[in-house]
Amino acid sequence: MRKYFIHTMGCAMNEYDSLRIASTFEKLGFVAAEEMEDGDYLIINTCSVREKPQNKAGSAIGRFRKIKKERPEVKIGFCGCVAQQEGEKLLKQFTYIDFVMGTDGLFRLEDIIAHVDSGKRLCDRDVNEGGLEIDIFKRPVTASSTVTIMKGCDNFCSYCIVPYVRGREKSRSEIEILDEVKYLAENGAREIILLGQNVNSYGTTIDKSITFPELLNRVSEVDGVERIRFITSHPKDFSDDLLAVMRDNDKMCEYLHLPLQAGGDYVLKRMNRKYTYEQYREKVLKAKDMIPNLALSSDFIVGFPGETDADFEATLIAIEEIRYDMIYAFNYSVRPGTKAENFEDDVPLEVKKMRLSRLLDIQKEILIESSEKYQDQVIEILVEGAAKKYENQYSGRNRQNRVVNFISDTILSSGEFVNVKITEPKQNSLFGIKI
Ligand code: SAH
Ligand code: SF4
Ligand code: F3S
Repeated sequence: MRKYFIHTMGCAMNEYDSLRIASTFEKLGFVAAEEMEDGDYLIINTCSVREKPQNKAGSAIGRFRKIKKERPEVKIGFCGCVAQQEGEKLLKQFTYIDFVMGTDGLFRLEDIIAHVDSGKRLCDRDVNEGGLEIDIFKRPVTASSTVTIMKGCDNFCSYCIVPYVRGREKSRSEIEILDEVKYLAENGAREIILLGQNVNSYGTTIDKSITFPELLNRVSEVDGVERIRFITSHPKDFSDDLLAVMRDNDKMCEYLHLPLQAGGDYVLKRMNRKYTYEQYREKVLKAKDMIPNLALSSDFIVGFPGETDADFEATLIAIEEIRYDMIYAFNYSVRPGTKAENFEDDVPLEVKKMRLSRLLDIQKEILIESSEKYQDQVIEILVEGAAKKYENQYSGRNRQNRVVNFISDTILSSGEFVNVKITEPKQNSLFGIKI
């Protein structure tokens, strides 16, 4: 039997696309290779959101090359956001790859494989004008499973490449989403994470569609679904209706990823985020007020063109004020074709690095404090499986999305809910004992 191997980089959306790539291979009779060396088809699913992951794609594909040198019959596919962006150029740059497939090529993967099997190379970065039909053939199911509800992005934040590599926003139909959720729940998923670049605008591309808050209620009615989360929500569209569903529907987790990006209004404006810090703050305070125990997380970009010391201080003040449970922070990275490419990248790398480390230090303090609150608390955990780093421990998350590693005197299966007493609230993960 022929084997496929997929190396995935980037966001949850890419992880999801890799499931679909895997599903196509399975449908064609391939099986997953445990080791890269055993693969007959080696696939890299790439991310171009910053320069670093883009460069990493180049080195990862170098490893594929070595394998192909030993087994020339191996086929190599360069997929995802970098493929969408660079296209044909990649075929010239990497003479040993067999195909380049952009972010919409998934829909034609069967044909692409047939073409490559016949010995020809190709580049497919066509846009798929149809829906988002997803063949759920043999889709892997985990206790916590993701479902893409929309693709693309129309927001054009000035720094961001996503609208160029993922195309225009398009929502999946409610029926298709619910079918997939049912399939997942029937096969053991208990938590559903709905994915989109801006889930708040779900449905706007479909005639007479339900809204995102309505979709959340429908998903919650599927038998077996016990928890629901979503990423990502754009602050400018974060609505009272959504907040009301988060408050009233008890399957909605007390967790919200609401990326602020920067605390200063001048920077936010140049980023084209379409909100001021004050507007963001008001929404967050209201959310905290309406949903007790709400955990918040955010993304931040440090050293955006024109960011002064005072602008950066405003970001730190925002972090102190909001007190996030989790922060993902990055140095600004110029992306080709974006509006900010024309802004002078005037914050020196050293300054960016210094600012990033100050930001992370402050967040560390906040996290230590918020983790300590868990000491001796008993919390409900959805068991996801064995802990990755620790032997004889299970791992799962609470409703606030905190990773909890714990020991148990009974054998547990993924998908079970258990109560765990926290005995050691560490920074990155809490540790406890099942009671
Ligand atoms: N749709 C999501 C974000 C997707 S990209 C949203 O709007 O929040 C994930 C994160 O990467 C962004 O939130 C941003 O913080 C970061 N990012 C995007 N482009 C970047 C760039 N050019 N440089 C540095 N970080 C960037
Ligand atoms: Fe990028 Fe902005 Fe779209 Fe998020 S909302 S994907 S940051 S353009
Ligand atoms: Fe995701 Fe990276 Fe593409 S963040 S959408 S894989 S550019």
